[in-house]
Amino acid sequence: MRRKVIAGNWKMNMLPNEAIDYIQAFEPLVKDAKAEVILCVPYTDLFYAIMNAQNTNIKIGAQNVHFEEKGAYTGEVSAQMLKAIGVEYVIIGHSERRQYFAETDETVNKKIKAALANGLKPIVCVGETLEQREAGKTEEIITSQTRLALDGLTPEEVKGIIIAYEPIWAIGTGKTATSDDANNSIKAIRAEIAKNYGKDTSEEIIIQYGGSVKSTNAKELFNCSDIDGGLVGGASLKPEEFAKIVKYDE
Ligand code: PGA
Repeated sequence: MRRKVIAGNWKMNMLPNEAIDYIQAFEPLVKDAKAEVILCVPYTDLFYAIMNAQNTNIKIGAQNVHFEEKGAYTGEVSAQMLKAIGVEYVIIGHSERRQYFAETDETVNKKIKAALANGLKPIVCVGETLEQREAGKTEEIITSQTRLALDGLTPEEVKGIIIAYEPIWAIGTGKTATSDDANNSIKAIRAEIAKNYGKDTSEEIIIQYGGSVKSTNAKELFNCSDIDGGLVGGASLKPEEFAKIVKYDE
């Protein structure tokens, strides 16, 4: 059976002192959670978050990474740099990065390879726009994003990746995909992975749902057959609310 993995994506929110206060409030609330808990925090919070989450069940992730090892790339941060301070996870290809920062399927693929080469676990985001959904292209878009993201990886490498299915129209809008729609999209992603990497890879890989997940809808979503947890934006900014999501099954 696949485990549930629930990750918070703070996006560009929280100063270091706020991150420290958050983790101190959050830790006792989730210390006996069955799901794996990850907080993906801004670069400037990473070190503080890692220090404060030591000896807890909270794992820390970044929200982006550059694909080159090092060199003249002003403003960028490499996988090796993240690994060196104790980062475990990294979000790659979030729709906000695809939309505002020219992230492409090709850079997503390169970033995944850089992350894996340095022992970071990628959380790879795929999802359709409202226009694509209305044109009946959801499955085509998300399977092609998945195929291109994972291109050139071995089944073993694919097993170590987390995919987050995030319909773009559901992000930050309060609109959630119905649990059936989300589950079916995730089944389509799993089928694409089965085709390219074999059935056991597709059965092992963790695939989350993201897009307006809250404590009131988490249980219904996460209880679906193919949804292995969630990537949570807005509702992860309050420790009490995010803890309820992490403990959706209680
Ligand atoms: P949201 O964001 O939960 O605020 O919709 C999800 C995400 O962007 O990962």
